[in-house]
Amino acid sequence: MEPEKIDFYNLGFEFIETKEMYISNYKNSEWDEGKIVPFGPIEISPGACVLNYGQGIFEGMKALEAKTGDIVLFRPDKNADRLNESAKRLLMPSFDKEKFIETVKEVVKANKEYVPPYDSGGALYIRPLLIGSGPILGVAPAEEYKFIIFTVPVGPYFPEGFKAIDLEISKQYTRAAPGGTGDAKTCCNYAGTMLPAKETKAKGFAQIIYLDASNLEYIDEVGTANFFAIINGKLATPALKGTILPGITRSSVLTLAEEKMGMEVEERDISYKELFKDKCTEAFCTGTAAVITPIGSVTIEDKKRIFNEGQPGELTTKLYELLTSIQRLEIEDEYGWIIKL
Ligand SMILES: Cc1ncc(COP(=O)(O)O)c(C=O)c1O
Repeated sequence: MEPEKIDFYNLGFEFIETKEMYISNYKNSEWDEGKIVPFGPIEISPGACVLNYGQGIFEGMKALEAKTGDIVLFRPDKNADRLNESAKRLLMPSFDKEKFIETVKEVVKANKEYVPPYDSGGALYIRPLLIGSGPILGVAPAEEYKFIIFTVPVGPYFPEGFKAIDLEISKQYTRAAPGGTGDAKTCCNYAGTMLPAKETKAKGFAQIIYLDASNLEYIDEVGTANFFAIINGKLATPALKGTILPGITRSSVLTLAEEKMGMEVEERDISYKELFKDKCTEAFCTGTAAVITPIGSVTIEDKKRIFNEGQPGELTTKLYELLTSIQRLEIEDEYGWIIKL
């Protein structure tokens, strides 16, 4: 879509075509130079490994217009690392970290007119995608790959202001099992969450909180975000044990809570039952899209716990303000997390 036709102040999270994308092909055990080309369809064999056996991984990141007018990225080095970790799990080739960061910058520059203005609260969502494009019949890794980066302008997660969401804890569906691919950002992890998400939305919930697949007791994560709770005054989040995506927002929130807010933080098993006790005073989830989203209530079967009368908690709000003001350079970025284009 032409950038002049976009209403940047009323964007949601729908797919909108932008002008340019990056594509690089891997063949004979090496990546080609890669190039920026007009956004458009790609040709792929019906026998492609990704189409038949789901050998695909991706990343999600955002370019923002900061208060200073700069266009900035948030910790893109971490997305490069995670892409390469996911690639390892699916026997895919890695992509050079420095080149990843430089290429992301180039793609954003090529689509600069699509970065929503600072005061809109929106962002240019960036989608790096690595797929096994070579044809294969037996279940085995492809010999050819494509690495693509495209962008989509998106609106703020809270168009009507910072609001809490209602979540359902599922005892019916799980997202990842020990030894599986839960800690890799594989395309297949997401296909299986669409039915549970549809069913819970029909019941009026925003998303599902997934429990661990072995015991149906300990919290794993929330649809496409990591889970946090304030329990006994400490900030607790499920420990990374192979079934949870290691979120970059998660890691940043742990650092900010400990170093900037003087909170005690714990990475541990959290039983869903703890959320129904008075010692649990706030809950929220984190992610590139969700930023920090307060949780107003959790429901399991016929039991419901409402936090703070459904309003964002005090510490959740402070963390949100701290993180978003670093991301938009409203305060100093002491950690070197922000990369300007
Ligand atoms: C399953 C899942 N968990 C957690 C996250 C949050 O990760 P991040 O903070 O890196 O966006 C995401 C989003 O990328 C996700 O898809």
